[in-house]
Amino acid sequence: MNNRMTVHRDGKAIYDIVMEGSYDRLGREVAALSVENRKLCIVSDSHVAPLYGEEVMAQLKPVCSHVDLFVFPAGEEHKNLDTVRQLYEFLIQNHYDRGDMLVALGGGVVGDLCGFTAATYLRGIRFIQIPTTLLSQVDSSIGGKTGVDFDAYKNMVGAFHMPSLVYISVSSLLTLSDEQFACGMGEIIKHGLIKDAGYYQWLLEHADAIRKRNLTVCAEMIQVSNRIKRNVVEADPTEQGERALLNFGHTLGHAIEKLMDFQLLHGQCVALGCAAAAYLSAMRGFIPMEEAERIKEAFGAFKLPVSIKGMNLSIPEILAATKSDKKMDSGVIKFILLRTVGEAYIDRTVTEQEMTESLAWLLGGQDGQ
Ligand SMILES: NC(=O)c1ccc[n+]([C@@H]2O[C@H](COP(=O)([O-])OP(=O)(O)OC[C@H]3O[C@@H](n4cnc5c(N)ncnc54)[C@H](O)[C@@H]3O)[C@@H](O)[C@H]2O)c1
Ligand SMILES: [Zn+2]
Repeated sequence: MNNRMTVHRDGKAIYDIVMEGSYDRLGREVAALSVENRKLCIVSDSHVAPLYGEEVMAQLKPVCSHVDLFVFPAGEEHKNLDTVRQLYEFLIQNHYDRGDMLVALGGGVVGDLCGFTAATYLRGIRFIQIPTTLLSQVDSSIGGKTGVDFDAYKNMVGAFHMPSLVYISVSSLLTLSDEQFACGMGEIIKHGLIKDAGYYQWLLEHADAIRKRNLTVCAEMIQVSNRIKRNVVEADPTEQGERALLNFGHTLGHAIEKLMDFQLLHGQCVALGCAAAAYLSAMRGFIPMEEAERIKEAFGAFKLPVSIKGMNLSIPEILAATKSDKKMDSGVIKFILLRTVGEAYIDRTVTEQEMTESLAWLLGGQDGQ
């Protein structure tokens, strides 16, 4: 298995995604980015820094002039401009200049915040991604979307800023909670559903090994998902069209996430949104109804929720929250549907009635009754 993949833009190589079983080759990879006279600031959170901070620091120290570690409290509630401000302050006080580099060590929260700071500090400095959650390894670290939340508005402030390297150590998955691991699976199953039926099937066949976090199987899975995400972002780096397919399950998913006041994790809401979107695709006659049921079960097999029963959510409030989402395009909801398993498309004609029916199906519980 080749453990390196290159991401291009306009035919030009921009950065590599490197996957390893440990951090042992990190120093070598970073050295290749010409940092010998540069300062590096590792940005991490309070959960990840104690786990991997020292190891990563030891890899980086020999290849650059100086390494700092900036740690902020873990959690989405710290992905905001206050934390960015503290990081700017730290960088200024420690005389970081345009040639220096940031290193995001953590999940999507760290990657988004560190990437946004790198995009804006001194009008942009380089950064690398060391994603440590499954979700960040297959999704948020690739594609250059960075940003922070503003009050209750998720990812409201941001920038496109490409990393110089994405370095994945698969073994970091071993310290992840079951819930966080499952969240990554939500996006991974989504990749199969929108782009690759064979991969979707493979995931189901390897469900047991994946749940047990067999690292060989997980490595293969991450690579396939990386390739899918890479191909989509290469085709549409700034989300003018094709990239929107990655939002499969996110229209209703985001609405549920917002209404649950972020008590359900993103990947869990995405799973619910994907199931609803599959049901809608079945209502349109694209896939058999039994297929929509099987898709719902597939998420369940990876310990993701498949019903909104008992969550104290009403269909009208989910619809209202959907309408206020960013995915609205001049007042029309951009919905991603499946033409078939492995092929998604953007639909702008989904009606409230259809959304109501798919949500009613989700309210029906495990068996969809
Ligand atoms: N930029 C993008 O394209 C993009 C795409 C999807 C999601 N996102 C963003 O990503 C964020 C979600 O990312 P996430 O799910 O990685 O959440 P996260 O970064 O909050 O990580 C989840 C939890 O796991 C902990 N953690 C991380 N790695 C660990 C490890 N190896 N072992 C033990 N604990 C670990 C973290 O400290 C945190 O408590 C959201 O803010 C979302 O908006 C961005
Ligand atoms: Zn997502």
